Amino acid sequence: MTANTALPGQPHIAYAGDQLHVEAMALSQLAREHGTPLFVYSKAAMLSALAAYQRGFAGRQAQICYAMKANSSLAILQVFAEAGCGFDIVSGGELARVLAAGGDPAKVIFSGVGKTRAEMKQALQVGIGCFNVESEAELDVLSEVAMGLGKKAPVSLRVNPNVDPKTHPYISTGLKGNKFGIAHEDALSAYRHAASLPGLKVVGIDCHIGSQITDSTPYLDAMDRVLDLVAEVESAGVPIHHIDFGGGLGINYNGDTPPQADALWAQLLTKLDARGYGQRQLMIEPGRSLVGNAGVCLTEVLYLKPGEQKNFCIVDAAMNDLPRPAMYQAFHQIVPVTPRTGDGLVYDVVGPVCESGDWIGRDRQLRVAAGDVLAVLSAGAYCMSMASNYNTRGRAAEILVDGTKAHLIRQRESAFDTFALEQLV
Ligand code: LLP
Repeated sequence: MTANTALPGQPHIAYAGDQLHVEAMALSQLAREHGTPLFVYSKAAMLSALAAYQRGFAGRQAQICYAMKANSSLAILQVFAEAGCGFDIVSGGELARVLAAGGDPAKVIFSGVGKTRAEMKQALQVGIGCFNVESEAELDVLSEVAMGLGKKAPVSLRVNPNVDPKTHPYISTGLKGNKFGIAHEDALSAYRHAASLPGLKVVGIDCHIGSQITDSTPYLDAMDRVLDLVAEVESAGVPIHHIDFGGGLGINYNGDTPPQADALWAQLLTKLDARGYGQRQLMIEPGRSLVGNAGVCLTEVLYLKPGEQKNFCIVDAAMNDLPRPAMYQAFHQIVPVTPRTGDGLVYDVVGPVCESGDWIGRDRQLRVAAGDVLAVLSAGAYCMSMASNYNTRGRAAEILVDGTKAHLIRQRESAFDTFALEQLV
């Protein structure tokens, strides 16, 4: 890499001279000060990803609800709350985090197929904006819980448009055969049912077809299917106040070329306008596209282990820190924080966890030595939020960089932290 070379699609992560930086902070210095594995996020990168959506919605009534499952660290929620975002949550735990981070409960939408009565109660008591209901059975329970509190629960039905998002099967959610949403053909009767229940107030419709979508066609198709339903439901006498198009926009992991959020929304708004819905209240639930390319995970090379069939580069981050390769065969670029010269070798980059599935990258050409620090890129989404303590490994520390400032936003977990809630009999 030459001087001041930004990584593709990641303008806030760049080599200055021979040092990889996040904004103005040299990553080698952060690794020295805080140890590894270490997640480092760029605030500017998050805000610039958000700005693309905000530009896309300029002049419209739109609420961006950050899907916080992508990265639910409090300081990151705070960044989005301060920037005006609401939140898409999927548990009472996530709701507690929103409140702890200063988020506005009225801008919270609650998704998920398995909300418990306790979670419904908690959400009704703090006055969340909307429940995205995923089954008829859930409608009945929610109505009952709301009546018990003397309230009406605002609901939107998550409809399943049966559109193929052309992504990994584990992260595709809008097809028949997925557990999510209410089938398109059952939606009208579900709306009639919702409108008849005394504890509910129908406010919207929503869909979410999958994640890491890199093409606009599935969105355009899903929008058509959802708008057909809005027309049907409204002509049956149930008004739909807001339309929520979910999240799912992909990022560049390995040369992927998803549409930019503003360009995607220009296309979608053209369709909405053409069909006469452009002035409705719009909602979206982006997760990965707001944070994914704003973060890296720093990891130190522990050992190089050459072999007959494979060379292994054993690092101190593992599948408990970066679960996506093991779970989805996901690709994350791996680059040196301080590049070396020379030829290098092809390595499998693996962690210390006792599983063959514990790999971070396969067949990577690297020039490395023990003690070097590598940066695993595109690690802002679905890494720390999916991290575990497997092998009694404490979770990594997290840093939020804001220009020349590096804030420690989560301390490294000690071994003691990992068993602090346990007791001997
Ligand atoms: N809304 C709902 C209802 C969702 O289920 C999701 C993600 C989102 C919004 C946000 O989607 P995004 O904009 O982040 O694509 N762990 C997987 C991704 C799982 C996504 C689950 N739902 C991964 O690492 O690829």
